[in-house]
Amino acid sequence: MSGLVLIGPPGAGKGTQAKLLQERLGLTHISSGDLLRAAITAGTEKGREAKSYMDRGELVPDSLVIALIDDRLARGEGRGFVLDGFPRTVPQAESLGRMLAERPCRIDVAVSIEVPTGELVARLAGRRTCRVCGAMYHLLFDKPSAEGRCDKCGGELYQRDDDNEETIRARLQVFERQTQPVLEYYASQGMLRHVEGRGTPADVLERVIAAIETAT
Ligand code: AP5
Ligand code: MG
Repeated sequence: MSGLVLIGPPGAGKGTQAKLLQERLGLTHISSGDLLRAAITAGTEKGREAKSYMDRGELVPDSLVIALIDDRLARGEGRGFVLDGFPRTVPQAESLGRMLAERPCRIDVAVSIEVPTGELVARLAGRRTCRVCGAMYHLLFDKPSAEGRCDKCGGELYQRDDDNEETIRARLQVFERQTQPVLEYYASQGMLRHVEGRGTPADVLERVIAAIETAT
């Protein structure tokens, strides 16, 4: 069983690409951000603890997010998995290595999705997400047919609490400071591939798949 890690700043398209990879390659999409938001909605202790960090655009403590990912991996990964937003610190990357060593699976490749900062801010400011099925839209780049409603399931579209300009800036800085070292971590193991994240989601998907193929 094999897995891949998608790394990129907020708005790079990790979630968009993970969903496309799930459709195309049948991989299981595991998003640390989605797991955290589900914990908040469910009102769990972990969710309550995570919320204040997320609202400030900071990373939640490693121990909390590692526990969530460990629980998720224990539920099975199907034919393989794509990790979106995890690991985001070097200790998380090291923990992932230890978690997988106990299971019959490994990470083959880490893909860095690269988009200039100005475009990231525009993408995040216009993002809307379906409350029911999680589908993602953009008010300018990928508009739903009916305002505020999901094309796929009719669910209500909402704007994430952390998609305001101040928190977006904080999240971008956190990426530079805390997540860039994860790129170096995978590069030093010869596992890192760089992908241009501009262009249509379909174009980026082809580049991601080509990058995966060079590594497997
Ligand atoms: P998380 O949910 O992971 O958010 P993020 O990293 O800030 O990334 P986003 O989800 O905002 O962006 P994305 O790259 O998925 O882009 P998307 O595909 O949606 O984390 C949220 C918070 O949780 C963190 O700040 C932290 O507090 C906490 N957290 C999560 N994981 C953690 C961890 N491991 N450790 C500690 N804390 C953690 O696309 C964005 C928009 O652009 C959409 O509208 C989309 O339609 C559009 N778009 C996508 N692709 C394109 C394209 N090619 N062209 C034009 N528009 C596009
Ligand atoms: Mg995302």
